Amino acid sequence: MREAPLLSVKNVSRIYGKGAARVAALDGVSFDIKAGEFVAIIGSSGSGKSTLMNLLGALDRPTEGSIIISGQELSRRSQKQLADFRNKMVGFVFQQFQLMPRRTALKNVMMPLQFRRPRLANERERAIKCLNDVGLSDRMDHKPTQLSGGQQQRVAIARALVGEPDILLADEPTGALDSKTSEDIMALLHQLNANGQTVIIITHDPEVAQASQRVITLKDGKIISDTSQEIAA
Ligand SMILES: Nc1ncnc2c1ncn2[C@@H]1O[C@H](COP(=O)(O)OP(=O)(O)O)[C@@H](O)[C@H]1O
Ligand SMILES: [Mg+2]
Repeated sequence: MREAPLLSVKNVSRIYGKGAARVAALDGVSFDIKAGEFVAIIGSSGSGKSTLMNLLGALDRPTEGSIIISGQELSRRSQKQLADFRNKMVGFVFQQFQLMPRRTALKNVMMPLQFRRPRLANERERAIKCLNDVGLSDRMDHKPTQLSGGQQQRVAIARALVGEPDILLADEPTGALDSKTSEDIMALLHQLNANGQTVIIITHDPEVAQASQRVITLKDGKIISDTSQEIAA
């Protein structure tokens, strides 16, 4: 039997506004992602990437169509259920890191666990392990301003991973970093993927896309290509 996809997007549209202001930010988009894939979603500005990211991360609901993640249909969930889903199933990484400036790296990483019900045991130990996994075990008590951009993004990745999400969703994670640091962060994301983490990365950086096994290209809210390639290790 074929393995069910981890994520299934079926004929999804997201319409903003009405009448003359109506914009189909996504227009009849369909694709599946299997557990363990590394997928880049690319497209020029305004093509619908962030709209898609918000839908995949259960921050928003489609106007039409369905999104199924790990067997759960997102469009029929209440706001409360979506929040719970987000906390457990998806880890987010953003271009501007979005760390809490007054908290240490460790406290930033522990934060998502504090919203989880029921609370997990060993919140602190889990956060320490994730900081270790991203190579920051010697920076746990530093605050964001005491860290470089690349280190801040590592903290953000550790925070995204601490809840052991099914999907790591990254929107332009290298967009605020210099090219060497971007390479390091991409190597880290690939290493996490090699250890089994499903990664979806939204980018307009051709180099980031080139290093991805699968590239989905959006244009004007539609998928214009979906290609897989072998990546040399
Ligand atoms: N909240 C919104 N209200 C109205 N239009 C929006 C909104 N968000 C995005 N759009 C429009 O939807 C289209 C896709 O936007 P977006 O998903 O942000 O694209 P990308 O991330 O690829 O730049 C654009 O035309 C944009 O202007
Ligand atoms: Mg965007």
